[in-house]
Amino acid sequence: MLGNFSYYNPTKLYFGDESLKYLNEELPKYGKTVQLIYGGGSIKKIGLYDEIVEILKSNGKTIVEDAGVMPNPTVEKLNEGVKLARENNVDFLLAVGGGSCCDYAKAVSVSVHCDDDPWEKYYIRFEEPECKIVPVGCVLTMTGTGSEMNGGSVITNHEQKLKIGHVFGDDVMPKFSILNPKYTMSLPKRQMVAGVYDIFNHICEQYFSGEDDNTSDYIAEALMKSVVHSSLIAVENPNDYEARSNIMWTATWALNTLISRGKTTDWMVHMLGQSVGAYTDATHGMTLAAVSLPYYRTIMSYGLKKFKRFAVEVWGVCSEGKTDEEVANEGLAEMESWMKKLGLTLSISELGVTDDMIDGIAEGTFILDGGYKVLTKEEVIEILKQSM
Ligand code: NZQ
Ligand code: ZN
Repeated sequence: MLGNFSYYNPTKLYFGDESLKYLNEELPKYGKTVQLIYGGGSIKKIGLYDEIVEILKSNGKTIVEDAGVMPNPTVEKLNEGVKLARENNVDFLLAVGGGSCCDYAKAVSVSVHCDDDPWEKYYIRFEEPECKIVPVGCVLTMTGTGSEMNGGSVITNHEQKLKIGHVFGDDVMPKFSILNPKYTMSLPKRQMVAGVYDIFNHICEQYFSGEDDNTSDYIAEALMKSVVHSSLIAVENPNDYEARSNIMWTATWALNTLISRGKTTDWMVHMLGQSVGAYTDATHGMTLAAVSLPYYRTIMSYGLKKFKRFAVEVWGVCSEGKTDEEVANEGLAEMESWMKKLGLTLSISELGVTDDMIDGIAEGTFILDGGYKVLTKEEVIEILKQSM
C-alpha cells in the first residue's frame, strides 16, 4: 500500500432474514415526518410495503408517500421529490428498493434545504452541499450498486442526454441500511444478473489500477471469486438463500469505499456504460456488460501484469509455458464465458444503440485518468463500435 488515505464509513448495516425488525431501533432517532421512497410497486407485490408502513405507524411517524422512482432516476423526478419534501417539511428519507431509490433519496437529501438547482449544482458543477442534509435510511431489495453503503447518487437528464454520478461525503451516506437477502428473491433473472455484473465490475474498476502490492487487490480478488461462485449457483437456483446472501454482502463490500483505498481506480467502463444509459435508459449492469470486453481488450497491454494476475488468481488460468499476454487473454476469455453463462447482454445494439448515436455517446463519456490507459476520443468511439 503506497497511498496516503483515511478510512471511515458511517453506515450501520443490519443483515439477514430478520433484519427488518431493527428499523424499530433506528426510527426513534429521527423526526416525525418520514418520506417513504419506493419504485414502481415491486415492494407492494412482496408484502414489504405493508410491513414497513406498519412499522412506521407503530413508531408514530407521519408518512409522506413518494412512489414511482424509476430505474435510472431522472432529474424531473428529483425535482418532484424535493418539492414534496419541502412542502411536508420531512425529517427523514426512507428509501425502500434498489440503487435507484437509494441514489434518489441521497439527491433529495442534499437538495431540500438548498436554493440552487440540484442538477446544475451537484451534477454539472460538482459542488458539495453547504446546506442542511436530510438523513437517509435504506431497505434494500435489489443488490448491485452498493448505494446502501456509499455516497454515490446517479441522476439521468434525458433532455441533455447525460447520466452523471456524484459521490457525496460521509454525511450523505445512509445512516443505516437493512439488507435482507430474501427481498431480492423476487427479482426477475435479468435484474439479478445485471446486478451481479454491476458488483463484479465495481471490483474491476478499482482493481485495474496501480502497480503496487496492495491489500485492496487481495480483498478484491476474494470478492470477485465469491460473486462468480455464488452467481453461478443463483442463476441455476434463484431461491438459494446462501448464494443470494453472499451476492448481497459482496455487493456492499464491492463499493463501500474499502477496496478503493490506496488505489487510483479506473471507472472507464462506468463512464462508457452511463453514457450508453443516457441514450437508451437501459439497465445499468447490462450497459456495463456490453462495453466491458472491448474496453478491457483495448487496455490490456497497458496493465498486462495485473491482467495476468487477474487471470491466474480470479479465473484459475494456468500460466505455465505461456506468455503473459496469452495468460491475460485467457483470463478475459474465462470472464466472457462466465458472462455468457449468466445470460448478460454483450452488445449495446441489443440495448437500443444505433450507429447514429455513437458520436453522441462518445461525447457524453467522461474520460478519466486513474486506470492503465487514458483513452483518446477515437479509442472511445472504437470501443463503442466494437461493443455493437
Ligand atoms: O421499481 P420497482 O417496481 O421496485 O422495480 C425495480 C426496478 O424495475 C426492480 N426491483 C427492485 N427490487 C425488486 C425488484 N423487482 C422485483 N423484486 C424486487 N425485490 O428492479 C428494477 C431495477 O431497480 P434499480 O433500483 O433501478 O436497480 P439498481 O439497484 O441496479 O440501481 C440502478 C441505479 O443505480 C445507479 C445506476 O446508474 C442506476 O441509476 N448506480 C449507483 C451507484 C452508487 N450509488 O454508487 C453505482 C452504480 O455503478 C450505479 O451507477
Ligand atoms: Zn455500477
